[in-house]
Amino acid sequence: MTTKAKIIVRGRTQPLAGEVAVPGDKSIGHRAVIFGALASGPVRVTGLSGGEDNRRTVTALEALGVPIRRDEAGLHIDGVGIQGLRQAQSELDCGNSGTTMRLFSGLLCGQPFVSKLVGDVYLCKRPMKRVAAPLTLMGGTVTGQPGARTGEVYPPLVLGGVPHRLHGTEVDGRVASAQVKSAVLLAALGADGITQYREPSRSRDHTERMLAAMGAPLTVTDGGLTSILEPYGWDRVLRARNFVVPGDLSSAAFLLGAASLVEGSRLRIIGVGINPTRTGLLDALHAMGAQIVVENQRDEGGEPVADLVVQAASLSGTRVAGDLTVRSLDELPLLSALAAHAVGMTVLCDAEELRVKESDRLSATAAMLRAFGVDVEERPDGLAIEGRPGRLRPAVVDSHGDHRIAMAAAVCALAVDGETVIHDADNVATSYPSFAATLADLGATITMS
Ligand code: S3P
Repeated sequence: MTTKAKIIVRGRTQPLAGEVAVPGDKSIGHRAVIFGALASGPVRVTGLSGGEDNRRTVTALEALGVPIRRDEAGLHIDGVGIQGLRQAQSELDCGNSGTTMRLFSGLLCGQPFVSKLVGDVYLCKRPMKRVAAPLTLMGGTVTGQPGARTGEVYPPLVLGGVPHRLHGTEVDGRVASAQVKSAVLLAALGADGITQYREPSRSRDHTERMLAAMGAPLTVTDGGLTSILEPYGWDRVLRARNFVVPGDLSSAAFLLGAASLVEGSRLRIIGVGINPTRTGLLDALHAMGAQIVVENQRDEGGEPVADLVVQAASLSGTRVAGDLTVRSLDELPLLSALAAHAVGMTVLCDAEELRVKESDRLSATAAMLRAFGVDVEERPDGLAIEGRPGRLRPAVVDSHGDHRIAMAAAVCALAVDGETVIHDADNVATSYPSFAATLADLGATITMS
């Protein structure tokens, strides 16, 4: 039996201070590697995260015949072109990475060869009908495991073996999901005719930015309508270009939270992606009274990047709903941890999607905060959290194998007297392997073993 990792935090020891970089953006990393593989020539990716999730994407592409090598300058991919993937000799293991599984569904559903995507126990509980349905409409083959919930489909997935080209289709995304949108756009690259994807609210747009920069005939309209055009004159070549992956705001979020909570702290986090489809957390923190200054804004490879300077502040409760929820979805467990230390009530709405992430994040977050002695009402689409500044107790937390729950709990614990233990924390390595070591370097009393 393997022992699961745990994080131990002793709170309120000393302020956090220093300058730090965070791992490369996970979402952009997946896409840089995938689009690099589909490019018409060599592509260099710099700044890719060392996290497990991005590694799964790289390994799967290698298994599909894409030559990839690493050196100190980054990852070098010999792009094989849109039609250049080859059948893998074995199943492709996506580990814990939902983005790998969903994006590869789009990539592989219309291939002439068959592929099988598998994942860990947590990924196998995540719904895949949201990608299977539109990809099947386009003529692709996606077969999963039928679930108890009518019509739902779960991993492992078997894809492809399709003798004809896919056909463009109008797809109405039911949820604002960049994974589903990207799966459809990846399939659309090999489809005849026009594919249109409409989303209810603007999800992260890294795929659109990259496709446009590589010369794909893509039009993005306001109001959430994304189109990929147009078969005439589209020679199905993605121009090779190098990618620079900025620091991951979703990882920086934990440092922003930690420095906000621990009295006397001041951190400078350099080179963080601030794509507006991702910055809901900054808006929500601003509304809570956090002290965060965005400095040195620049454009790196088509993505906006900045340095973030944060210092400790007293926080007050807030309300997160609608578009703000979509723009801060991955950060809501962390925001909830901060809300526990804020004066007054925080209400999160329209966040039912959190139930189908790496864990049911609404119930895992509620349980985590209750372990610290916080009053939380769990609602179908969110949480209502009663802040208890200065009155939380140290906790024993089950992260449910979810990296963001584990890291949110660790941040929460930094402002609590005494020792908190967070169990089942191995998956921190999926996005932020150096999380505990970085916080310790900045002054926190934290270990991971
Ligand atoms: C991601 C999209 C989001 C996000 C996930 C990464 C991506 O998921 O929660 O962590 O890289 O496309 P959904 O698209 O399912 O909302």
